[in-house]
Amino acid sequence: MVHEHWKAWMKIIWTTILLATSLADFTTECQRPCDCRWQSGNKAAICSNSSLRSIPANLSNDIQILDLSNNNLLTLHQEGFNKVGLSNLKKLFLKECNIDTVHKTAFATLAIMIELDLSRNRIRNLHPDTFKGTEKLRLINLSNNLIDILEDGVFRNLKFLQKVEVSNNKIVKIGTKAFSNLPQLKILRFDGNSLTHMKPETLMALHNLSGLDLHNNPWRCDCNLQTFRDWVITHNLYTAPTACAEPSTVKDKLWNELDSSSFACRPTILEPIPDAKVRSYDENVTLICKVVGNPTPEVIWKYNNRIIETRAFGEIRYVVTENTMDLIRWVNLSIINVRYSDRGNYTCIAENPGGRDEKTLTLILSKYGSVGTILGLDTDTFAILVGCLTAVILICGAVLGVCYFTTQNNESKRLIKTDTSSNGDILIENSVASELEKGQKPEVNPVVKPPRKHEAPLSLTSEATEMSELNRTLLDNESMLSK
Ligand SMILES: *[C@@H]1O[C@H](CO)[C@@H](O)[C@H](O)[C@H]1NC(C)=O
Ligand SMILES: *[C@@H]1O[C@H](CO)[C@@H](O)[C@H](O)[C@H]1NC(C)=O
Ligand SMILES: *[C@@H]1O[C@H](CO)[C@@H](O)[C@H](O)[C@H]1NC(C)=O
Ligand SMILES: *[C@@H]1O[C@H](CO)[C@@H](O)[C@H](O)[C@H]1NC(C)=O
Ligand SMILES: *[C@@H]1O[C@H](CO)[C@@H](O)[C@H](O)[C@H]1NC(C)=O
Ligand SMILES: *[C@@H]1O[C@H](CO)[C@@H](O)[C@H](O)[C@H]1NC(C)=O
Ligand SMILES: *[C@@H]1O[C@H](CO)[C@@H](O)[C@H](O)[C@H]1NC(C)=O
Repeated sequence: MVHEHWKAWMKIIWTTILLATSLADFTTECQRPCDCRWQSGNKAAICSNSSLRSIPANLSNDIQILDLSNNNLLTLHQEGFNKVGLSNLKKLFLKECNIDTVHKTAFATLAIMIELDLSRNRIRNLHPDTFKGTEKLRLINLSNNLIDILEDGVFRNLKFLQKVEVSNNKIVKIGTKAFSNLPQLKILRFDGNSLTHMKPETLMALHNLSGLDLHNNPWRCDCNLQTFRDWVITHNLYTAPTACAEPSTVKDKLWNELDSSSFACRPTILEPIPDAKVRSYDENVTLICKVVGNPTPEVIWKYNNRIIETRAFGEIRYVVTENTMDLIRWVNLSIINVRYSDRGNYTCIAENPGGRDEKTLTLILSKYGSVGTILGLDTDTFAILVGCLTAVILICGAVLGVCYFTTQNNESKRLIKTDTSSNGDILIENSVASELEKGQKPEVNPVVKPPRKHEAPLSLTSEATEMSELNRTLLDNESMLSK
């Protein structure tokens, strides 16, 4: 009995001593300015509001909570916590420490850390491996820093991560893989940054996300943001007052006040270029309108400020061909059998919910078709020239015809008389003549038809076809005058 009592007493004494020494260990090793105490069952070292320039070196290895807030650490060096023997940290507070540089292995050895507060520092960038070794992290607070980019992979594979705050930084870009494989992530705060757009795939894989703060960013509410916006709204992740900053048509409108279709990209006409001039000598002219815009814009053509009706009655004057490939839309206007009266200003107008764009081109046509312009003559000179040429051709034709007819008649008469005294040329002529006589076709007029075809020089032939064109244009002009 006595023996057993003694044993029990010894046990109690031993535990008390052990406890006392361990207590003494963790608190007595604590040096100014730190204050070491128990905090919700953890050994805590509170070293805040001092002027520490480095991580205190003589803290117990057992410290689980370290508060270094409001010091002047400037840089977190390579394995900085490991070097002072702190590898059992669960919570680390480094708020307001003037930190501007975080070495990629600064936290690498803190394998059981669950909470990290780096807020109110001057951190500009985070290496994608910063949180590689801290797989137990549940909360990361990076608010009020100067981070501009969250790179791919920076928060990857943190299986227990529930909350990330990156409010009030300068973020313009978030890598689409910055938040990959984070099954528990529930709360994300990006408010107060410089985000204008967000790719939907950046966050769409976060199935447990239930809180997302995006307000106070200069969101550009166009077609590039539409899918993300729709995802936010349909997943009940919208928080007021997330609003648009651009484009001007939706400035200051809240995301949930706007229709999805308002998130559109204003059309831009790439062709025609401003104040384009099109010269044409062809029968049909095609005017090109090349537009980008999302959603696909409606495109119309106007001629001198009147909408061109392509389904006009009677003669088809206009044919519109269009197609859309990716985001580029072509709407080409072909004018069939161009007349001089078709000259003027043609405007392509493209419109979608994002806005509209228009470009005007001037169609320049030569009054007398192509040749005059090619020769570099003005239209009046060309008309006179064509007139003169026509007269000359007609006169020559007539003269030639008369000559031919008379000589031919004389020749045949002469040949019939002097049959035997012949040379080759005459023989051939003779046979032609005799055939002519044999055929007995006096009604065939050799003056007008066949000789012109092969006797007229090439240039004249082409002039002759010009003639018919000239006639046509003149007719057009008359019809124009009569209008
Ligand atoms: C440190 O200062 C902040 C305010 O600057 C104060 O809220 C906090 O309680 C102080 N902490 C300690 C341990 O004195
Ligand atoms: C910390 O402890 C080491 C020995 O472990 C000692 O040399 C050093 O002076 C101590 N530093 C401070 C600041 O007390
Ligand atoms: C993160 O830090 C900011 C700024 O210090 C603070 O306002 C916010 O409450 C912190 N968030 C959490 C979850 O601790
Ligand atoms: C969401 O979190 C719960 C635990 O909170 C977890 O069981 C579940 O697998 C998570 N869902 C997804 C899609 O990861
Ligand atoms: C002009 O267009 C009409 C109608 O499409 C076509 O029949 C004609 O062949 C075209 N002319 C030229 C020179 O392409
Ligand atoms: C419009 O004209 C351009 C330039 O000739 C051409 O590349 C495009 O395929 C045309 N589009 C259509 C629909 O005809
Ligand atoms: C066509 O546009 C030009 C300027 O772009 C203008 O000077 C001209 O008067 C316009 N012509 C017609 C017929 O509207």
